[in-house]
Amino acid sequence: MKRRARAPSSFILPAPMIITIDGPAGTGKSSVSQEVARRLGLGFLDTGAMYRAIALAAIRRRTRLDDADALGALAESVKVDFDWSATPPRVRLDGQDVADQIRSEEVSSGASKVAVVPRVRSAMVKLQQEVGRNRPQLVTEGRDQGTVVFPNAELKIYLDATPEERAKRRKLQLETKGQKVDYAALLEQIRERDARDSGRSVGPLAAAADARRIDTTLLTQQQVTDAIIALAQQVQKQA
Ligand code: DC
Repeated sequence: MKRRARAPSSFILPAPMIITIDGPAGTGKSSVSQEVARRLGLGFLDTGAMYRAIALAAIRRRTRLDDADALGALAESVKVDFDWSATPPRVRLDGQDVADQIRSEEVSSGASKVAVVPRVRSAMVKLQQEVGRNRPQLVTEGRDQGTVVFPNAELKIYLDATPEERAKRRKLQLETKGQKVDYAALLEQIRERDARDSGRSVGPLAAAADARRIDTTLLTQQQVTDAIIALAQQVQKQA
């Protein structure tokens, strides 16, 4: 007779550790989140990539980006998931790796439009919570992770920086890619996007009441990462 292997009674599942990192673009959120995940050995979820994948699907199918019903139906019918074997995990749309295609300017601008649609958001939130259930040791990065998606996260971080500093960083980033950019126009774009992200009715960009706020304006990425790791270690000790 075949016996099912049983876990020894001393077997302890690793404690859940979900770290949410929210904040606007240009705060170094993405690099910092990946580095925190790497150093703590946690999974990494880029929720912006999911909104970008929906925008890419809409562009490919010529769905109008102001048609909330069509975008909602699209988000509920396509499959967005990740190849978890890659570091960082790569986003897939209906099984196809689209991690590179979602970084174009067209998709960036589309993502901020699809992200205001409540049905799109609720479909993505459901998927994100499923990832959290399957991978409860996770750094998850976005705008609403601490407020809406994982309100019981072990540690919530909100990164911020002045719009001027964020525009400066974005300018540098684009210049290293060989693009010539106008600082004033970038600053204006950042202010507009902030207003759209913070003003939407569902899942607005916001810090959870119990989030630790870190102003990154005068800090290096290394300093921000170290600060978050120190907070995570405190949480682990208290658990
Ligand atoms: O972080 P990012 O630039 O890749 O995000 C792409 C867009 O998706 C951006 O306009 C903000 C939006 N977004 C969101 O509304 N909620 C999230 N949890 C993540 C991203």
